[in-house]
Amino acid sequence: MGNLKIRASLRRDRKAIHEMLEQCSAFTAEEVRVALEILADGLAGGLDGDYPHFTAELEGRVCGYVCVGKTPLTHGTWHEYWICVHPDAQGKGVGLALQTQAEVFVRSRGGERLVIETSGRSAYARTRRFYRQAGYRRVGLIRDFYRPGDDCVFFCKELA
Ligand SMILES: CC(C)(COP(=O)(O)OP(=O)(O)OC[C@H]1O[C@@H](n2cnc3c(N)ncnc32)[C@H](O)[C@@H]1OP(=O)(O)O)[C@@H](O)C(=O)NCCC(=O)NCCS
Repeated sequence: MGNLKIRASLRRDRKAIHEMLEQCSAFTAEEVRVALEILADGLAGGLDGDYPHFTAELEGRVCGYVCVGKTPLTHGTWHEYWICVHPDAQGKGVGLALQTQAEVFVRSRGGERLVIETSGRSAYARTRRFYRQAGYRRVGLIRDFYRPGDDCVFFCKELA
């Protein structure tokens, strides 16, 4: 892989992040809208806010991002709210680098575990395999959570 850099997200990343959310074809229009709202909050609050975001740049081009946040009313539980890699850059280790950065950051803030909620649909099989390869354990499932036939699968990694 070429020159990969992970850094805190910046306002100038917004257009590229919007494009990758549309083009990766994993997200509904409503999900893209919510991801952009969280991004706006994340950019306003920075790394000390409720939604820290990190951007991946490959050869100077924005190609992926991740968003985490401390889960309210917990001691040391964090959620990963979003991760996306532009389809042209997938399968090159960018996702894993973002995941690792998210974990390093959460640990640095005293986080004890990172929780991920994702879809149980077959279209998300590669995504679920990605989480397992990154060391996440499937810890639960709620049937028909998102809509009929679309379960929510919970993954967790202990960071201590
Ligand atoms: C899930 C996602 C973030 C993973 O990102 P990615 O950059 O493709 O992931 P990686 O390249 O780190 O790892 C994925 C695969 O590439 C392989 N890989 C890792 N490093 C690699 C490298 N240097 N070169 C080639 N392949 C590599 C991994 O073994 C893995 O293989 P797999 O296809 O058997 O799973 C990305 O596919 C994505 O954005 N998907 C759509 C959005 C989505 O589903 N988001 C999560 C919603 S909950």
